[in-house]
Amino acid sequence: MLIQTRTRATLREADVTPEALYLDRRRFIGASAATLAGGLGLNGAAAATEASGKDYADGEAPNSFEQITQYNNFYEFGTDKGDPARHAHLLQTRPWTIKVDGECEAGGEFDLDALIKTSELEDRIYRLRCVEAWSMVIPWRGVPLATVLKRFKPTSKAKYVAFETLVDPKQMPGQKRRALPWPYREGLRMDEAMHPLTLLATGLYGKELPKQNGAPVRLIVPWKYGFKSIKSIVRIRFVEKQPYTTWNDLQAREYGFYANVNPTVDHPRWSQARERRIGELFKRKTLMFNGYADEVASLYEGMNLRKHF
Ligand code: MTE
Repeated sequence: MLIQTRTRATLREADVTPEALYLDRRRFIGASAATLAGGLGLNGAAAATEASGKDYADGEAPNSFEQITQYNNFYEFGTDKGDPARHAHLLQTRPWTIKVDGECEAGGEFDLDALIKTSELEDRIYRLRCVEAWSMVIPWRGVPLATVLKRFKPTSKAKYVAFETLVDPKQMPGQKRRALPWPYREGLRMDEAMHPLTLLATGLYGKELPKQNGAPVRLIVPWKYGFKSIKSIVRIRFVEKQPYTTWNDLQAREYGFYANVNPTVDHPRWSQARERRIGELFKRKTLMFNGYADEVASLYEGMNLRKHF
C-alpha cells in the first residue's frame, strides 16, 4: 500500500490536489520536483481549488485523482490495493453490452453508449466508506440509477435488483484465481435502487471512469459500504426475492446484505466506529449512513439495524 507508507507532508499535498493541477505540476516541474515541493509544504494554493460537481460531502476536500486511482479494491485484477491500477489496462471497455432481464417489460441487450447519454450525466461529490474502515471523497460523474431502471419498465414483482460484473479471465487476470466466486454480484432492494442518491457512474473528476475504478459503468450507493458499489456491470436483473450477493454469501456474519454504514455495528474482526480517510493521519468518526441519514434513514424505519446490518 504505497499511499500508507508516504510521509505525512506528501500525503497532505496529494490529498488536496485536484487532478488537473496535479497533472499540470507533474508536466511542468517533473515528478521528483513535485514530490520535493509537496514535502516542503509549498502547495498551499492547490488546497483551495475544488473539484467540480454538486457537493454531497459537506465541503470535505475530494481525494486526489492519484489516490482515487492507485488505491483500489477490484479483486478481478488482484487483491492488493495497487493491482487494479497495474492490470486494469487489459480490460476492453468498448463496445460494452448490458443484459437486462427478469421482472421487467422492456429488458434486452443494450449498448452502454445508447443506454446512457453523455448529455444526461451529472457531477456529484460523495464520500465512499469501505467496510475495511478507510474512506475517500470522490467526484463522480453519472446518472441516477432510477433514471435508467425506469426505462426497463420493472413489473410489480420486481422487489430487488441484482447486478453482475464481467467474467473474462483474459481481461481480468485476477479471475484466474478463485479469490472470490466469479462473477462478482451485488443487489439492492428496489426502493434503495430508486433512491435519488443511488448513481450509475461512468466517470470521475469530469472524465471517463478509469478502468481500475470500474469502467465503463459501476454502481455508487454512498450510504452503504463500498462493496455494494459493484464495478464493470454487464447484467442487471429484476427479481422477486433477495438476490445472491458475493460478500454476504461468502461470510454472512461479516458482510450483511444491507451493508449500511453504521458506526455502532462492528465488523466481527474490527471496529467500524472510526475510519481512516486516505491521505490523513488521524482517524475520523464514522457517520451513520456515511453522513446520508437525513436522506435515507426512512428507508429502514422499523427495521432492526443490528439484525439487518
Ligand atoms: N466490484 C467488483 N466487481 N469487484 C470488487 O472487488 N470491490 C468493492 C467495490 N466494487 C469490488 C467492486 C469494494 S470492497 C470497494 S471499497 C469499492 O469497489 C472500491 O471502489 P474504488 O476502488 O473505486 O475506490
